Amino acid sequence: QTDIPSLAEAYADDFPIGAAITPEQTEGPMAELLKKHVNMLVAENVMKPMLLQPTEGQFRFGQADRIVEFARENGMQLRFHTLVWHQQTPAWFFHDREGKRMTDETDPAKREENKKLLLERLENHIRVVVEHFKDDITSWDVVNEVVEPSDPGGLRNSEWYQIAGIDYIETAFRAAREAAGPDAKLYINDYNTNEPAKRDRLYELVKELLDRGVPIDGVGHQTHVNVDWPSADSLIESMRKFAGLGLDNIVTEMDMSIYAYNNRSDYGDDIPEAVIQKQADRYREFFEAFRDNRDFVSAVVFWGIADSHTWLHDFPVQGRTDAPLLFDRQLQAKPAFWAAIEAA
Ligand code: XIL
Repeated sequence: QTDIPSLAEAYADDFPIGAAITPEQTEGPMAELLKKHVNMLVAENVMKPMLLQPTEGQFRFGQADRIVEFARENGMQLRFHTLVWHQQTPAWFFHDREGKRMTDETDPAKREENKKLLLERLENHIRVVVEHFKDDITSWDVVNEVVEPSDPGGLRNSEWYQIAGIDYIETAFRAAREAAGPDAKLYINDYNTNEPAKRDRLYELVKELLDRGVPIDGVGHQTHVNVDWPSADSLIESMRKFAGLGLDNIVTEMDMSIYAYNNRSDYGDDIPEAVIQKQADRYREFFEAFRDNRDFVSAVVFWGIADSHTWLHDFPVQGRTDAPLLFDRQLQAKPAFWAAIEAA
């Protein structure tokens, strides 16, 4: 489809349009689709700790560098995802030098030592990784999914938290600032940031950290929605709240499942026309809202670009396929694409 408009061009006066990609997608028809429609990229997986430092002290940049190269060649901005997460992080981070799991430690003195070791490893990871990528990155996800309203204190009870408490978050931002420099844009990224409980806990956390001088520039809103989601209003309200703290907002991982979470079985190849149309209408609504609020929405990034490749195949329901993006499995524009174009 060479005769259709470019999504990135349609929003050129508003914000960059991005996509999460794999190194393989920098070649072939997918690469052509990306070049035409997006001007920002993020690595879907290859910049996560597990892929960059699988073994302590042994960094692997090859796969990630393919994406850096592709972004450079095509003049695209690049986001970094993610310096810290509770998933896709190698287990060695959380084991002491004797190979014991730090979360099993009960001796207070050893627990203090473990915390120190974990934070040193974190600082080291961030220093080396940021140093490697910093010339190419325009915004960094420093921590991902650290808020969980149903966990004690509203912070995710991850290994990070169990071993280091809230300090790992502060350490991560300070280390990122130190390595990336004063102009780097540092984000706290999370999902369901429109939900009052999540939004409010995130807001309190960010405010507390800012008050302590922790360098945070913005909030990343993952925006994994579905066709039955509430209106875009709650998301915009949340963004407005963070903008009130002087923070930037980015839509970091947008996609729109054709299923209301996990309550439906697979449509397979027979997605009802009404669902495809509903998805288009919802995308239109979201894009109109982003455009109307471009003062505090500085980029919109999809978690993928075409339905041939999406993390929602098999998630959250094993064996079920999804169709959450603007292009179909044959890389053809869907009604959702046209809706996004019309909203520009
Ligand atoms: C997902 C990737 O898309 C999958 O390929 C991988 O198996 C698991 O991670 N929120 C995030 C992303 O912040 O890092 C996740 O990416 C999707 C949900």
